Amino acid sequence: MSETAQDLTGRDYFTDLSLLLNPYEYFRQMHARGPVYPMAHDNVLLVTGFDEAVEVLRNNTDFSSAISTSGAGEPLPFTPRGPDISAQLKEFLAQLGERSLLVAYDQMQHANLRAIASTLFTPTRLKSTHDFMHEFADQLVLEAVARGGCELVSDIATPFVTLVIAELLGVPPEDREKFRAVIDAAPPPGNMNQQQADETGEPRLSPLQYMGMYFFEYLADRRQNPRDDVLTQLAMATYPDGELPELLEMVKLSGFLFGAGQDTSAKLLSNAMRRIIEEPGLQQQLREDYALIPLMLEEVLRLEGSSKVTFRIARRDTNIGDLAVPAGTRVTVALAAANRDPRRWENPDEFRLNRPRIKEHLAFGRGVHTCAGAPLARLEVAAILEHFFTHTRHISLNEDKHGPPGKRRLEYEPSYIIRGLASLYIDLES
Ligand code: HEM
Repeated sequence: MSETAQDLTGRDYFTDLSLLLNPYEYFRQMHARGPVYPMAHDNVLLVTGFDEAVEVLRNNTDFSSAISTSGAGEPLPFTPRGPDISAQLKEFLAQLGERSLLVAYDQMQHANLRAIASTLFTPTRLKSTHDFMHEFADQLVLEAVARGGCELVSDIATPFVTLVIAELLGVPPEDREKFRAVIDAAPPPGNMNQQQADETGEPRLSPLQYMGMYFFEYLADRRQNPRDDVLTQLAMATYPDGELPELLEMVKLSGFLFGAGQDTSAKLLSNAMRRIIEEPGLQQQLREDYALIPLMLEEVLRLEGSSKVTFRIARRDTNIGDLAVPAGTRVTVALAAANRDPRRWENPDEFRLNRPRIKEHLAFGRGVHTCAGAPLARLEVAAILEHFFTHTRHISLNEDKHGPPGKRRLEYEPSYIIRGLASLYIDLES
């Protein structure tokens, strides 16, 4: 920390607006205290070291994912007792309701459902969405070019990623707009502006609940009346031992895929576009060689991945490095900090197109819970960017909205999970 820099380490990461908007200096200062260090929040541990983050994410025996959807910012509804809290965690998960999802499952329960989820992202399945993806990307980009510019997040990124997942899951084309409307209305996860009630004061349904309603109908129908379509494949998918999952499990999985792939991919597109515009020479370099787009995306994922953190809880007394971690300890694994750990990355705050071993970044996590949708996310964002380059001569930030170079005004989502621009206005020269 420089002498004049303010000490941020005592701030509450989960509620302090300035940290929600920009966490990187906080992570840097916490890392300077130690790669694993207690947060000023109910003694939750913060992991900012690369090796330590990998160690926790890979150790799914001692660390449970049960709090990965509820987060480490919420107090536990039980008092951990003894050196092994497996039984308490099982009960906790059973009571999580709609937040008991694939990403929060452990061991066999996780492996069984993950096997089904993975079938959606095989190269063959992804290939089958290729034409839709490119046609839709082309259409959205051409519309934006005709207007001379767009707001990238809501005009392009959000509808695109939502409808690509709808296509992947086999949602009938006539229903796709319903999904888009639900997603458009929702703030990103971990956002401090969550709307809990509608205008009449009634509790507002979350997007996952809406998706759940639609998917309940689809999947129940396909189990009754199987057809030759993707929804039927999803409805009839079995665990590796041949057992048919409960319908509710498949409904939750479908809804979760929308949620998990929605903000993350959309924000990756806007984070990448901002870099492309702001990094000297980068736009031209990519225009001359589209093959560099995937490499650029990996460096954006490292430097500004859209999931800043994920969470674990110690299932039993264990260690991170040589630090003893008692059972019941909650851990915030700061992927965004590990991706800038100076012990792992040379000049970590710098954008470099040719970073050695760039694919080892942790933006998609690591271990058994590694993002199932990573291959899709990479394809989606690369597709949109390619169409932008094909249909334009130059892309720039809109100065009325964001100010001139050197004095940019960029608004980030106030979320403790998602790192992404609330909006990005761009001008398109054709
Ligand atoms: C840039 C885009 C994305 C980022 C940065 C991202 C990030 C992540 C991370 C960090 C995890 C691991 C969480 C943990 O270990 O606790 C994860 C899990 C997951 N993601 Fe993504 N994700 C992205 C896009 C997607 C997409 C497009 C989909 C699907 C349509 C998706 C589906 C999933 C699923 C199903 C899991 C849970 C895997 C499991 O628990 O086995 N993600 N994602």
